[in-house]
Amino acid sequence: MRGRIDVLQGDITTLAVDAIVNAANSTLLGGGGVDGAIHRAAGPRLREKCGRLGGCSTGDAKLTGGYDLPARFVIHTVGPVWQGGQRGEAEALASCYRRCFALAVEHEVLSIAFPAISTGAYGYPLEKATRIAALEARTHLEHGSGVNRIVFACFSEEAKDLYVTTLEDIVNLDDVAVQSLGTSRSPE
Ligand code: AR6
Repeated sequence: MRGRIDVLQGDITTLAVDAIVNAANSTLLGGGGVDGAIHRAAGPRLREKCGRLGGCSTGDAKLTGGYDLPARFVIHTVGPVWQGGQRGEAEALASCYRRCFALAVEHEVLSIAFPAISTGAYGYPLEKATRIAALEARTHLEHGSGVNRIVFACFSEEAKDLYVTTLEDIVNLDDVAVQSLGTSRSPE
């Protein structure tokens, strides 16, 4: 089998994967939502490291260690702020996923967990964002270039159900299994 996609409802900071993705802002200095949760769980060394990275542009990503997290790395990406959909938001969001996969491959990451980038404070409609996440996951797994396990960590049950339906529809590859992992706190 070429790969596996797991969808789970839970806190991304608990996952023992090679890398978790942070939905950060362009300062990389922390914030609310998943960013706040990751910084709290990773401890002060993450904030120190992020302070030396010189920020990050929308659609780009930067990698750090995971410090006190079970994950080895954190890949910080900056999603677009939703402004109605005509300001390049879709391309910027797709770019976040692509840059995360590129850094993952560079650092020999085999398993990666994503939150629903941009869909909280940045207001991206969940359904549209989920389609983009699914398309980029499919493209990566199709090319078989590194990551072979992708976890989508959803905060709500509604988001989880949407991810499962969308992924089953879009990632229709013979050798990729899409699994719903319930509300387990860790898929390991
Ligand atoms: N695990 C998984 N998902 C989570 C968690 C968690 N621990 N916490 C929240 N979510 P958001 P954005 C979900 O607002 O929209 C920050 O202040 C949440 O339900 O975290 O990209 C940054 O510093 C939502 O579905 O990120 C930026 O300023 C998703 O994660 C800004 O927010 C993303 O919501 C970025 O906004």
